[in-house]
Amino acid sequence: MNFTSKPSKKLMGIVTCPRDKSISHRSVIMAASATGKTKIYGLLNGEDVKKTIYALREMGVPIRLETSQYGMNAEIFGSGIGGLKQPGKILDMGNSGTATRLLMGLVATHSFNSTFSGDRSLLRRPMDRVANPLEKVGATIKMHQEKFLPLTIYGSNDPLPIKYKMPVPSAQIKSAILFAGLNTPGLTTVIEPIPSRDHTEKLMKLFGAKIQVIKNNKIGKKVTLEGHNELLGKDVFIPGDPSSAAFITVAALINPGSKIKIKNVNINPLRTGLYKVLKRMGGNIKFTNPQKISNEAVADLVVHSSNLKGINLSEKIAPTMIDEYPILSIAAAFAKGKTILNGLKELRLKESDRIQSIVNGLKKCGVEAEEKKDKIIIYGNNNPEGGSRINSNLDHRIAMSFLIFGTAAKEPIQVTDAQKIGTSFPNFLKTMNQLGAKIIR
Ligand code: S3P
Repeated sequence: MNFTSKPSKKLMGIVTCPRDKSISHRSVIMAASATGKTKIYGLLNGEDVKKTIYALREMGVPIRLETSQYGMNAEIFGSGIGGLKQPGKILDMGNSGTATRLLMGLVATHSFNSTFSGDRSLLRRPMDRVANPLEKVGATIKMHQEKFLPLTIYGSNDPLPIKYKMPVPSAQIKSAILFAGLNTPGLTTVIEPIPSRDHTEKLMKLFGAKIQVIKNNKIGKKVTLEGHNELLGKDVFIPGDPSSAAFITVAALINPGSKIKIKNVNINPLRTGLYKVLKRMGGNIKFTNPQKISNEAVADLVVHSSNLKGINLSEKIAPTMIDEYPILSIAAAFAKGKTILNGLKELRLKESDRIQSIVNGLKKCGVEAEEKKDKIIIYGNNNPEGGSRINSNLDHRIAMSFLIFGTAAKEPIQVTDAQKIGTSFPNFLKTMNQLGAKIIR
């Protein structure tokens, strides 16, 4: 399905942020692993989260859903640690790398086998990065060409606690190991030289897991989980997703005269690198009304349109904004001067090869850009052309980024396979158009 974004006037208004995808996946998994009832308020109703729900239902977890003003509310009766049943069919995980990798961890320490598959985008994403540590725990994993889906995991009935030093910063790998550690006797330890998002650790604490996090200048972060401890069902409130708020924020920055407020955005420092960078580029962004919900910091974001300038960005910030490079690239296209984005190797392994998707898309829209092995160079142009058809490559964030480009370009931009936006931001069209954008199906 193609969407088209036409040049809009200024964007104005107040919107509530769509709920966080990472925290939604994890809270459903934690609820399934706990004993008793968990109520989750404001679960993201995106396709990716529905895949986690579907897979856990297949493994015998009763999950009741009702639509709510902010997504879905869920009532989940957990099976307890190690209490899942073997799924009766191949689990089709759609587009969701996060759902697949987190659940691979969970089932690795259940003594049954399960088979995962997915859509064209997911079939090209490497799973060996998760399989390697899970095999050390004791699972046997058979993968297509030794690294891809479809894959079958033969879970271990005698799992071993491992100490694993992360080869790349990845919250998905870390979380898979920790979920496996829930049903493993003894201490499972993950060492992160460069910290990644810590929602799993925060939720495990909320559910009563014995988890300890130590920060150390020499080794980075050490997370230790004691397995085989009962978790108790909880009430969980899901904050807004800073990765989704990013699209609204950049739209307001690049459309002259705009002023918007996004309510209830998670401002966990391991997720908010983009906002720091946009401020350094000259973006007028303020965080107001700070609060804490379910162990996570949230705030409202107030954004005014701004004259942006290019930036040379170090790779060090990448883990705190790993999903935000597509939309940052759009901000850079509208900024004055050159932007260099370094250390982007991981972007080649996302829902599409994002280095390629970004650079090809920008060039089609009349923006000068260069693709290097692990970096992108963008020559900002203040008033870019647009007027093209962009291939989303089944990537929701590429689709949204170029639709945001279209709101401020001279000519409309059409994006292919834009239905994939539903994986993370199902109300994207409605939310953007409510603020004054003109995006049509
Ligand atoms: C996620 C972690 C990141 C991110 C993804 C969501 C998570 O992936 O890109 O969209 O929820 O853990 P990596 O762990 O591969 O960095």
